[in-house]
Amino acid sequence: MQPVKIVDLFAGPGGVDVAAERLGVPTVGIEWDADACETRRAAGLGTVQGDVRRYGPADFPDADVLAGGPPCQTFTVAGSGAGRKALDDVLEFVEQMTARVNREQIVSDLANLDDERTGLVLEPLRWILEAIDVQKKPYEAIVLEQVPAVLPVWEAYARALRNEGYSVDYGLLLTEAYGVPQTRKRAVLIARRGEHDMKLPAPTHRTYRKGVPRDAGDASKEPWRTMGDVIERGTPFEVISNYGTGGDPKLRGRRSSSQPSATVTGKIRRNRVVSLDGAELDRFNHSEAGRLQTFPADYPWSGRDIGQQIGNAVPPRLAVHVLSAAFGWSPPSEELLEKLDWWHRLPAQAVSVPDDEALVGA
Ligand SMILES: C[S@@+](CC[C@H](N)C(=O)[O-])C[C@H]1O[C@@H](n2cnc3c(N)ncnc32)[C@H](O)[C@@H]1O
Repeated sequence: MQPVKIVDLFAGPGGVDVAAERLGVPTVGIEWDADACETRRAAGLGTVQGDVRRYGPADFPDADVLAGGPPCQTFTVAGSGAGRKALDDVLEFVEQMTARVNREQIVSDLANLDDERTGLVLEPLRWILEAIDVQKKPYEAIVLEQVPAVLPVWEAYARALRNEGYSVDYGLLLTEAYGVPQTRKRAVLIARRGEHDMKLPAPTHRTYRKGVPRDAGDASKEPWRTMGDVIERGTPFEVISNYGTGGDPKLRGRRSSSQPSATVTGKIRRNRVVSLDGAELDRFNHSEAGRLQTFPADYPWSGRDIGQQIGNAVPPRLAVHVLSAAFGWSPPSEELLEKLDWWHRLPAQAVSVPDDEALVGA
């Protein structure tokens, strides 16, 4: 398919949108965090600063692709009672929403959830169903991503979307298997309207396993990429995680520059960087932390709490693979992937939707 425009819900600093721009697909992202919006605007990404719950498909009539990475805090406690309860609530809402049970009742039930963030993971479904029922213009393609704990929700979304006439694939993807110099797991769903052989993107690189050398393993795939491949420090280095396994500081994770980074979190600035003889080096700056997530080296990180913005994002390189698979395109070429290395400011896009202020009282 040839998409016209992506509307990206919970768009953050633009992991998905950077990928889309490089694929030549226009995007507009909805994001309420002023700092992430500052970064987006500095990068020239189409941005509506506001609450996703206050918009709908009618506000973005030219968008034919829906992307979304709703926040996930309530699910990251999966396994705990609260996480399980949040999941049960969401699975029930998916059923009710797709059965077209009284909309007003659902809205009031959602408002009464123990943790209102639980309801945010249902926003993409609200948009999808509104596009079908109210706009009569279903999204042609859908791309959702989240932490692994959200996989059962994507499973419920997959059932619902198949009933609405979409072809769907979903599962867990390992970022290093797509050439991201970082080990990170994401739960991803892709869907396209009609009958298609939907398949999540095939891995291009080997999976990282502790103690298994870089050149060992499946010869049909590239070796995983390392921190040293994207960060120029002149000499090898080691990163000592801020977190110790089971809370024990002696068990803090260590990765060397000849390995992929551990999962980049919002607290990446707390990780120590040391030389191989143990001398303290400068911690990662924003550009370097962004590179571990495959953002361009000159991405114009702006606003406050940039570490958190970086840690929240989808790695653009993974997103290029995922979007290509969702559109039914061939895997991205090396030449296209190299275009993620540098950004160079794009001209600011004119966005033709009202901002949050304008909708107040509308
Ligand atoms: C996991 S991040 C998404 C990252 C994004 N997909 C990317 O690739 O960069 C979730 C984002 O949702 C934003 N957010 C949370 N609740 C929101 C709401 N109700 N409306 C708009 N944005 C919201 C957060 O500020 C955060 O930036």
